[in-house]
Amino acid sequence: MIVLYHYNQLTKDVKHTALYISLDFSLNACILLFVIELRNFVRNIRPYKPGKPIEEVVRELGITDEVVKLASNENPLGPSPRAMHAMTQKLGETNLYPDDNCFYLKKKMSEKFGMHTENIIVGSGSVELIELIFKAYVNPGDEIIMSDPSFIMYRIACQIFGGNRIAIPLDNYSHNIDAISRAINHKTKIVIIDNPINPTGTIIQRDAFQNLIDKVPDHVILVIDEAYREYITDDCYPDTLAHLPDHKNLIVLHTFSKIFGLAGLRVGYGFSSTDIISALMKVRLPFNVNLIAQIAAAAALDDDAFVQKSVNNNEAGKKFLYRELERIGLKYTPTYGNFILTHFSQEAKDIFLHAQKKGIITRTVVEYGLPNSLRITIGTPQQNKRLIEVLTQIT
Ligand SMILES: Cc1ncc(COP(=O)(O)O)c(C=O)c1O
Repeated sequence: MIVLYHYNQLTKDVKHTALYISLDFSLNACILLFVIELRNFVRNIRPYKPGKPIEEVVRELGITDEVVKLASNENPLGPSPRAMHAMTQKLGETNLYPDDNCFYLKKKMSEKFGMHTENIIVGSGSVELIELIFKAYVNPGDEIIMSDPSFIMYRIACQIFGGNRIAIPLDNYSHNIDAISRAINHKTKIVIIDNPINPTGTIIQRDAFQNLIDKVPDHVILVIDEAYREYITDDCYPDTLAHLPDHKNLIVLHTFSKIFGLAGLRVGYGFSSTDIISALMKVRLPFNVNLIAQIAAAAALDDDAFVQKSVNNNEAGKKFLYRELERIGLKYTPTYGNFILTHFSQEAKDIFLHAQKKGIITRTVVEYGLPNSLRITIGTPQQNKRLIEVLTQIT
């Protein structure tokens, strides 16, 4: 920051601590270059890098073809129709603040999931809930166990709150539950696990989850982030909510950003014991979930037809992409989510850039330590076909 000051205005402290460039001492004026000191943790944060928005790619590359975004694991079928209808009914009420406690939405969730409303929290996306967990519980130096790679927000939250990140390498693109359990000690505050993992799409199954939860002591919070859970129809996926009554230290996170197609509204929700939920409620800002988002999310919860249609689209897309990726000689990690981690024999950045020029936005995962891979969202049949055409040309 550059500030013009009269030299005589400066206190002794400022004269000693700030860098200043004298302009003209005869005029008694100088320019002070204030270096505003950041907290140490902030200096080291590498900010979250979202998938490129379509408008940005169109603007930068001047593309006239329809641009397809397969970068952020959004629902390619659009928003839940029930949610859209409900939103339009409420537009005329946006002069009012939203319900601070999300009463109606929590009531719906309570009915759907068989939980008390005191065991539910709603946030501006599940990323807000991740932040609240760290904000409420992490003291500088507390150990936070997570897989490496796993959803990048865990690492960022850890840096923001000064946690000591204990990164457990994946084993063949999957969580290494034994290593995670072994890393827990008296300094551990949180174990945070995405199931499925973003960016690999693998899951921990029922038995492995049981194994893990049995080993997490009561003083450690176990966060299971199930952002993609609705895509998984397989019986092997753990029923984490069933463990809540016996494990007061368990937090389960869900979101409306993925299968419900409401990423732009920012609604995530979490379940836990009343103690944890009330702690998280204390550290959130008021009105953290907007009025339209609350109404849309409540309506989306009833949209079983849309959820089913989205699961079907995802399953069909997955089959098509597996077959076509194999045909063109590309390796991939089989997924439980709505995205496929695709592997190349060289750095994937050029492939990403070429695909982008052709109007297909994918996602590099360099910051996840995977420079030779791209994370690609499963699209509509037409989008998947275009993706394969482009990959065929450039690989
Ligand atoms: C594992 C995981 N958790 C959470 C999120 C963020 O979800 P939200 O949009 O609810 O903040 C994502 C988004 O990509 C994710 O992959």
